[in-house]
This record gives sequence, C-alpha cells and structure tokens, in this order.
Amino acid sequence: MINIGLEDSNRREVTRVLNNLLSDECLLSTKTKNYHWNVTGPHFHGLHALFGNQYAKLDVLIDEIGERVRALGGNAFGTMTEFLRCARLEERAEMHPSELAMAEDLYDDHEILLRSLRGSLAGNASLRSDFGTTELLTRAIQEHEKMASILQSVLGKDDQLKEWLKAQDAIQREIGIEVLAAAVSAT
Ligand SMILES: [Fe+2]
Repeated sequence: MINIGLEDSNRREVTRVLNNLLSDECLLSTKTKNYHWNVTGPHFHGLHALFGNQYAKLDVLIDEIGERVRALGGNAFGTMTEFLRCARLEERAEMHPSELAMAEDLYDDHEILLRSLRGSLAGNASLRSDFGTTELLTRAIQEHEKMASILQSVLGKDDQLKEWLKAQDAIQREIGIEVLAAAVSAT
C-alpha cells in the first residue's frame, strides 16, 4: 500500500497519462534514431549530429518518465506492443524520407507533444495535484520547446536553403518515377 499523499485514483490517472506520454516519447526517439542513422544529403553531418543529440535527450526524458510511473506505484510500459497501442504520434509510411522531410516530421511531432503536454497540465486535475509529475512534465515541455526551436532554425534559417531542398525533393521524386517507368517499359 502506497501512502505518499496522493489518492489511489489520482495515482492511477497520472500513471495512465505518463504511460501514454512514454509511448509517444519512445516513438519519437525511435523515429529520431532512424533519421540519425539514415539521413543522407548535403547536410548529412549537421543533421546526423543534431538528430543524435536529440534522441539522447529524449532517452533521458523517457527514463525519467518510466521511473516516475514506478514511483507512483504503477507499471511502466516497456514493450513495443504497448507503445504502439498507446502512442498518439504516428510513424511515417515512408521509412527513409528526404533530409528536409525528416526535420519537418520531427518538428511536427514536437509540436503535437507540446500541445498534448500543455493540455494535460492545464486540464487534468489529478495531474495538477501531483507536484512531482507536474515538475517533470514542465521540464519535458522545456526540452521539447528547445528541440523544436532548433529544428525550426534548421528549417527556417535560410529560405533559399529550404527552397533548394524542396527542389531536390521534387527532382528525386521525378527521377524515381522515370526510373520506375523505364523499368516497367523494359519488362
Ligand atoms: Fe550515432
């Protein structure tokens, strides 16, 4: 029996919120690792390092969230089945998008998580009564804001760069279609 000054129903509700967040963070960490490993293109070095740095930060957060669930007497999710069932974020159908699409995809996910975290902190009374979790989620917001702002800088620091990357995307798609068409006509 845990008696840390929180009602059992509050602890259960906070645990539910934390496990959902854990699922999203694990999905985002995996996605960021995928992009760290598979990014290609003229900005490989910068993006490879940036994505590596960001997944390391996410993994620190993930560990804290899982251990917070345990501190509240719950069971932390720890399987891909649970993560995929409860994550609100989504995997991309395209496994190896362009470098621009990778940065945009991660930025969008950080925004979704920021909106979700703010919604939980503002609207969930059980969560607000748990100061330890409130502190953790407030730090999570700050971490996601920092990561999102760096991605935003990468995407928006140079409109010419963004236009150039978009043009490269279009060319690659066109080449892909041409190669496919040639392969089809050769059969
Ligand atoms: Fe690495």
